[in-house]
Amino acid sequence: MHEFKFKSNQLYCENVKVQDLAERYGTPLYVYSYNTFIGHFLKLKRAFAPVKPLICYSVKANSNLAILKALVEHGSGLDIVSGGELFRALKVGCPPSRIVYASVGKTDKEIEEAIRKGILFFNVESLPELENINRIARKLKKKTNVALRINPDVEAKTHKYITTGKLTNKFGIDFDTATDILRIAGELSNVAIKGIHIHIGSQITIGEPFVEAIKKVVAFIKSNKARGVDIEYLNIGGGLGIIYSHEVPQTAAEFAAKVLPILKASGLKIIMEPGRFIIGSAAILVTKVLYVKKTPLKKFVIVDAGMNDLIRPSLYEAHHEIVPLIDEQRSNEKVDVVGPICESGDFLAKERMLPKVREGEYLAVMCAGAYGFSMSSNYNSRRRAAEILVKGRKIALIRKRETAQDLIRNEIAKSKFK
Ligand code: LLP
Repeated sequence: MHEFKFKSNQLYCENVKVQDLAERYGTPLYVYSYNTFIGHFLKLKRAFAPVKPLICYSVKANSNLAILKALVEHGSGLDIVSGGELFRALKVGCPPSRIVYASVGKTDKEIEEAIRKGILFFNVESLPELENINRIARKLKKKTNVALRINPDVEAKTHKYITTGKLTNKFGIDFDTATDILRIAGELSNVAIKGIHIHIGSQITIGEPFVEAIKKVVAFIKSNKARGVDIEYLNIGGGLGIIYSHEVPQTAAEFAAKVLPILKASGLKIIMEPGRFIIGSAAILVTKVLYVKKTPLKKFVIVDAGMNDLIRPSLYEAHHEIVPLIDEQRSNEKVDVVGPICESGDFLAKERMLPKVREGEYLAVMCAGAYGFSMSSNYNSRRRAAEILVKGRKIALIRKRETAQDLIRNEIAKSKFK
């Protein structure tokens, strides 16, 4: 569910006409609906109320400070994967006790900073990393909490680039190795292994892979408890899928109905790390049609947003609905919607039936909130888009459009060789 709807043939974000935003702020433009993403957060919180989870929104999905701040103000914690994301989390006032930190490649500097700030957990992805965290914590004369990220070897039934819970993926620790680690945990006196973490993939629309993975890790925790290892927390990761076109994903309540019985029976404290579920459908990317170009074989709608603004179609062949901001009677035609970038892979849609569009009009690329702006780049020296947050009738510019100066800020034209 989202709050982008047509009223009198015009697309609105909550109570604001999107066309007005495009004219005022220019395009490409990301437009976010506050009530949509806060609504998603609250839906999940309500569905899982019986286990009172700590919901740590996954910063990588969309890391704009205004979005993080709004979620943190509603009680969200944050799931981070880098020193940069830790910086953002602290900047918006997220209590460190609500921050969990995953990533297979944490550097010494990043680890040290996170220990100093006193985050809730490191989600540890290998034995060498655990030993390193222990070494750094010892140097700092601290004891830090960790959760072992288990790779439960389950098939998440999603795109191969966004599946993470198979043993062929680089993520997490297999059960046997985890058992060995728990056995020697006593020797690592500056880390306390208090949790188990899983994250099996992204855009998962069915409950079974989650149920299978959670059952596996709960059994693992139980068998270790029998050996005297006391695990307090279970972090079930993110991965909940959303509707991009014709998917019929489970709702928060349906997901909860499937996994709550197992979670409740486990008696563990529960953490979740949703990203896409919260922010995915809460934004659109608004783009202007520059040219309509006919070739002997095809028709191209050339727009001013490219793969640098939204890379998901190019990278994953991801489907995003595209609609003109004005909904009127028109015939449909098959087109490729492409950006201005010098790559054939620069497209937003291929062979797509769309209402006949006019040069100069605006289109909305739907469900662009997750992994949209956060994966955008300056490729082709394109300035990254502006971002607008809408709440009811209110509008806030939450990221200025980049300037030409922003593009070259860190570059040094006259290099001096020493
Ligand atoms: N927790 C961990 C450890 C993760 O690696 C991720 C996402 C999440 C939570 C949040 O997953 P979500 O709830 O958003 O599915 N760029 C890709 C998605 C990559 C996901 C990376 N990890 C895309 O555009 O589809």
